[in-house]
Amino acid sequence: MSLSRAAVLALGATSLVALLAPNFIERAAAQTADAAMNALATPENWPARAATVVADPAVERRVDALLAAMSIEQKVGQIIQADIASVTPDDVYRYHLGSVLNGGNSDPGGRYNAPAKDWLAAADAFYAASMKRHGKLPRIPVIWGSDAVHGHNNVVGATLFPHNIGLGAARNPDLIRRIGAATAIEMRVTGLDWTFAPTLAVVRDDRWGRTYEGFGETPEIATSYAAPLIEGLQGRIGDKDWLRGPHIVATAKHFLGDGGTSGGKDQGDAVMPEAQLRDLFSPPYLPALDAGVQSVMISFSSWNGVKMHGHQSLMTGVMKDRWNFDGFLVGDWNGHGQVAGCTATDCPQSVIAGLDMYMAPDSWKDLYRTTLAHARGGSLPMAQLDDAVRRILRVKVRAGLFEAGKPSSRPYGGRFELLGSKEHRALAREAVRESLVLLKNAGGLLPLKAGGHILVTGDGANNLTKQTGGWTLSWQGTGTKRSDFPNAQSIWEGIDAAVKAAGGTATLSADGRYSRKPDVAIVVFGEDPYAEFQGDRPDVGYDDTKNLALLRSLKAAGVPTVAVFLSGRAMWVNPFLNTSDAFVAAWLPGSEGGGVADILFGKADFRGKLPYSWPRSSDQTAVNVGDANYDPLFAYGFGLTFADKGDLAPLPEARASAAIADPGVLFTAGKPGSGRRLLLGAPGALSTNPGPQLIEARPADRTAQEDSVRLRWTGAGHAVATIAQETPADLTRQTNGDLALELEMKVNAAPSADVSLLMGCGANCAGGIPVRSLLTEAAKSDKWTRIAVPLRCFEKAGVDMARVETPLTLATAGSLDITLSSARIVSPSGPQLACK
Ligand code: BGC
Ligand code: BGC
Repeated sequence: MSLSRAAVLALGATSLVALLAPNFIERAAAQTADAAMNALATPENWPARAATVVADPAVERRVDALLAAMSIEQKVGQIIQADIASVTPDDVYRYHLGSVLNGGNSDPGGRYNAPAKDWLAAADAFYAASMKRHGKLPRIPVIWGSDAVHGHNNVVGATLFPHNIGLGAARNPDLIRRIGAATAIEMRVTGLDWTFAPTLAVVRDDRWGRTYEGFGETPEIATSYAAPLIEGLQGRIGDKDWLRGPHIVATAKHFLGDGGTSGGKDQGDAVMPEAQLRDLFSPPYLPALDAGVQSVMISFSSWNGVKMHGHQSLMTGVMKDRWNFDGFLVGDWNGHGQVAGCTATDCPQSVIAGLDMYMAPDSWKDLYRTTLAHARGGSLPMAQLDDAVRRILRVKVRAGLFEAGKPSSRPYGGRFELLGSKEHRALAREAVRESLVLLKNAGGLLPLKAGGHILVTGDGANNLTKQTGGWTLSWQGTGTKRSDFPNAQSIWEGIDAAVKAAGGTATLSADGRYSRKPDVAIVVFGEDPYAEFQGDRPDVGYDDTKNLALLRSLKAAGVPTVAVFLSGRAMWVNPFLNTSDAFVAAWLPGSEGGGVADILFGKADFRGKLPYSWPRSSDQTAVNVGDANYDPLFAYGFGLTFADKGDLAPLPEARASAAIADPGVLFTAGKPGSGRRLLLGAPGALSTNPGPQLIEARPADRTAQEDSVRLRWTGAGHAVATIAQETPADLTRQTNGDLALELEMKVNAAPSADVSLLMGCGANCAGGIPVRSLLTEAAKSDKWTRIAVPLRCFEKAGVDMARVETPLTLATAGSLDITLSSARIVSPSGPQLACK
């Protein structure tokens, strides 16, 4: 329910003005100053490209005939893709939807670890719905897209290959081709047709949360990988099994400039001249097109202030006209909604600019309605709609979908033994071996003798969640447990097997303690999983006092140490380099931890070379080979082998800038997150310490001393508790990504009057939801309650999510007594409130 009016009532218009002090507001406009650069591409300045997939007259005739027989409703449905969490097979039938996808958090039956057979059954159901007759209209099979970005990573039991950053270190196009082929087969087993891979991003700033999705910081690696990977996935143009049989449809993404945004900001703006955009980011697309990639995903980001989803001169001018791309352009997750003048449910502009398929996960129904109206009324020209439909049909015909039958009846459908098969896992293990980069090897500690006594420790040692990273069973890769990985080996398990086989002994120790002094200790640690903007960081310093203390205590005890570092980017780790004898950058290796043991014990030598320059300081976030004053700690292409002298002089340990706390943390450990304040009082008279008449705040304990705050409204008048930002927060990405405001609290005494939970965005700008009944319910128990409100609810209630000045406000005129232990903006870890 929209509560913007109630919100304003609860707070009072004047209070909003006061609450959102003037200095907060002024800063908002200051950012866009440099967007003046031209955002119109001149296609003639881009390399020309002849079409490789020579149009097949028979295919074109068939597409023409289909198009001529289609209704306008059918055409509109064809260009819309809905998410399986928000669409049923019956919807696909009724609205003629051309495609479905499963987003990172969407699974059959809503279970992140749904068994493979459920995926196949869902694929059959969507296919059958799409092929049900609508009178005389042609029947058009649905196509299902999924992010198989490091293997078929949404499905339990699939082989999980190293993320692209690790594959980039391998510098081995043939390996990449085989990985593509194995991934395609595993997708076919579950009945899926189409992967949203490969990512061909060239990543220039390692603060970006998607750094690990890119093969490297230069166009070089992605350009050498694009064709073999696409051929592995799709097969070769002209072969009988192109796009069918063991193969699927691939996607080159995200066009264009995704890895070049200012500050490494996800969904940000790549501000640069046209020549730089072209020369740095477009080269990998040419071999991808030559290899016949059938779809290209449009980037969430902008070029010089213009969103790619509305960028006619790049989508149509360059991709379709100059480069003769005859497949289709798919949007990214409601990305069209970010185009100026658009919303997620209304945006003919994108199709007019050249987009062919909207990715409209939850917005598809209203989008269908508005798009149909635009098509009928002419504000979406029929020629443009026909072109989009034609391209989608062309790919479906090429892929043989019209004849393929239901997914379970196609080649490989239901051959579940191929998920995580011996061959595929051996291939993934080979990829792990090739991806590891050795940065230090003092005194030639590596290779280790497997026959010795080996201590294995660090929180990454026996941790498949960490080892596999984001885009693994869930979007963020979090929340998984050992049993979700039946076909996998942790790094510890791999080491243990190798040591046992050689007659040695290995011990896993969580805290690094041991009873018998080891010959050597292997310490595995690194970043926790993340995806997209949730992985964006303020700098590239790796902070981890626990594992550093562990390394130091082992060193102090005279135990030689090997650090195995798991990460989605190159990071400043000087204290860890100083404290360990050998240091291995292992990236996000995936399901085959045994590949790490293979190298540590010398079954094969290191071959991996850095795909990203390694930073010399925590604020050296965008160091790239070719820079004018290029001065990394380890250069692009660096990587030791056993024979190299691997000693390293002690490095400075001072962190260049203090870590800035997670921007999603509004309140934790008894305090507001950094850059925020907790203010209390009557609307219009807020302060950190207002006196006890209306509302008071006192430190409280939950699991640690003063880790929470107790808030008591007396009921003597209107009062609010609010978290105010020092600078307004742009929460549009978080909103678009379905994040939620999650609170953990205990309700000590039920409210005596209505209570609103609000966000504020400047003068007369606020919205939220009523929470009285929820709090009353929670008061019945003395347990901690988790409340998650989708950010979309605030948006719907009128909050300008681009300018949130108070991300959390509780307001009531009655009495209320709660203890708040945390408030965060997160990918929700459980059920959420509905806001309609
Ligand atoms: C990501 C894409 C992905 C899509 C579908 C988006 O948020 O940017 O890379 O393919 O979601 O999950
Ligand atoms: C989906 C992802 C998608 C993201 C968009 C998530 O809820 O699960 O697939 O990429 O939203 O930012």
